[in-house]
This record gives sequence, C-alpha cells and structure tokens, in this order.
Amino acid sequence: MLEKRFSARDVYKEDLFKGKTILLTGGGSGIGRLIADSFVELGGDVIITSRDEEKLSKTKSEIQKDWKKDITYYICDISDDKSVKGMVASVFKEKGNIDILINNAGANSLRPTEALTPVRWKAIIDTVLNGTYYVTREVGKRWIKAKYPGNIINVASTTGWTGSPFMAPSGAAKAGIINLGKTLGSEWGRHGIRINDVSPGPVFTKGSFERLWLNEDIIDTIQKKVPLGKFPGPEDIVGSVLFLASPAALMITGASLAVDGGESLKQSFGDLVDQFRPRKNVDEEIL
Ligand SMILES: NC(=O)c1ccc[n+]([C@@H]2O[C@H](COP(=O)([O-])OP(=O)(O)OC[C@H]3O[C@@H](n4cnc5c(N)ncnc54)[C@H](OP(=O)(O)O)[C@@H]3O)[C@@H](O)[C@H]2O)c1
Repeated sequence: MLEKRFSARDVYKEDLFKGKTILLTGGGSGIGRLIADSFVELGGDVIITSRDEEKLSKTKSEIQKDWKKDITYYICDISDDKSVKGMVASVFKEKGNIDILINNAGANSLRPTEALTPVRWKAIIDTVLNGTYYVTREVGKRWIKAKYPGNIINVASTTGWTGSPFMAPSGAAKAGIINLGKTLGSEWGRHGIRINDVSPGPVFTKGSFERLWLNEDIIDTIQKKVPLGKFPGPEDIVGSVLFLASPAALMITGASLAVDGGESLKQSFGDLVDQFRPRKNVDEEIL
C-alpha cells in the first residue's frame, strides 16, 4: 500500500466511480500515481498513460496487489499529437467511452530565463500546454459527436497565476491551461462538458524540494510564509480532483481551485500580517 495516501473512502462513498472510466495522463508517478489509486479505491475503471512502460507496468501490478483490481495502461507522449491521436483512438475502441479525463502529465525545470534555449522552452510548452490541448481535443471532439457530457480536470499550478522565478515555460504553459479551461468552460458548456483545474502550489516531495532549494533552513523559512504553515503533500491534491470529478461539482466549470495552503495569497498583504497594528486590543472581543 502506498505511503501517505489520501484515504478516499474516509470522505467519499465506496462506489462513487463505479461504472465510470477515467483516463489519467502521467498516472505512473507522483501526484498522478496517488490519483490513480484513489479512483480505483472508489470503483473507477482507470487508464493511465505516460512515456515509460516500466513505470506504468509497475503501477498496474501494485494496484492489482493492493486493490485486487485491474487497470489499463497506454504508452503515449502527449507532446506528440500523433501519439495522442493513436492513444485516444485505442482507448475509445477498447472501452467504448471515457467519462472523466484528467490531464495530469507535466514537465518543469529550473533555469534562468536568459539561459533558456528555445529548444528547452519549446519542449516544456509542447508537453504541458500543447499536450494538454491535444488530449483534450481528441477526447472532447468524441464527446461532442456522441453528445456525451464528459468531465475534464486539469492539474495546473498556481505558477499559472503568480509566475515563479526560473520556471518561465512551465508557468506560461500552466497559465495557458488555466485559460483554456475558462475558454472551454464557456465554449463546451452547451455540450454539457465541464472543465476545471486543480492548481497545486509547490508540493512537498523530497525529490522536488531537493532539486529546488539549497538547504533545509530555507525550506523552513519559506514554509513559514505559507498561511497554513506548510506546503501540501501530493496526497493533499487528490481530494480536490475527486471532488471535481464527483456529482457534487456538477455545476462547476471553468474554475480553478488552488490547493496550496494559501501560498498564492502572498502577493496581497499576507506577508505583512504580523506587522498590522489594530487600533485597540481586539483579543478580548474575539474571546
Ligand atoms: N510537484 C509539484 O510541486 C507541483 C506543483 C504544481 C503543479 N504540479 C503539477 O502536477 C502534475 C504532476 O506532477 P508531479 O509532481 O507528480 O511530477 P511527476 O511525478 O514528474 O509527474 C509527471 C508525469 O508526467 C508524465 N509526463 C511527462 N512528460 C510527458 C510526456 N511528454 N508525455 C506523457 N507523459 C509525460 C511523467 O511520466 P513519464 O516520464 O513516464 O512520461 C510523469 O508521470 C504536473 O502537471 C505538474 O506540473 C506539480
């Protein structure tokens, strides 16, 4: 069983996604791996995709062992529209339909923008923004043709609103994904198709933080700036994805849900909250 997993059945009913087929990009690692686990836990028929067969096949075996349920995987490079066309056509052929699309696959790297080559810029935009568009279009056009009210959830990022130093292509691509969600929320609403995003702030994983930050003291300092006192872990993202996939969100489309402990609010006066001086001592009034 995965460590620190979100226990979906503690919040959602056991068969919430029974009879539903879920296509999840990047489902073999990180946040996507936990998302796959929770949809299986709630009865969903899950298909995961990425470029790495070893990773996908390991996930399939682990899920079989933990949940006694089978999942399907497809190898697909989402930055290649032909690869996406083939994958989506095969999934629809095998499953007949899908009910929920989760665009989770993404890529990022830290580099000063002036040192970024156009090749690197393009590689990240091709995966994050273009890849999300390719999968969304291939699935969406089938839903429109079949008059099927599908549901799309994009895993975007708060960097799409706030920007972030050294992450120019990924931030720009995530801003594009968030905007695409708002455009399609409006454009595809008449087909009954919903599209929303969950936007994580920096997610605390050992690997990502070792790559990003120089030392433990800095991690401590920056976590103290988060209103809720810490960054989310991968398991904190999953509940919001399940919520947007559920009937509780049937009237939500074009929305962006930050899961970041309030980190993206730092642009307001949040940083200065300890510096405010109330006109009088309000503690007694509060108590
Ligand atoms: N971790 C964070 O701090 C954070 C913060 C905000 C948003 N997010 C977003 O959360 C999502 C998941 O990230 P993660 O942190 O869980 O990282 P991760 O473990 O590296 O997951 C990224 C996934 O995307 C897949 N992928 C990358 N390029 C691909 C391509 N061209 N075609 C198909 N699949 C591709 C990878 O699989 P293969 O390599 O096997 O292809 C991998 O499974 C991403 O969209 C990321 O931007 C993460």
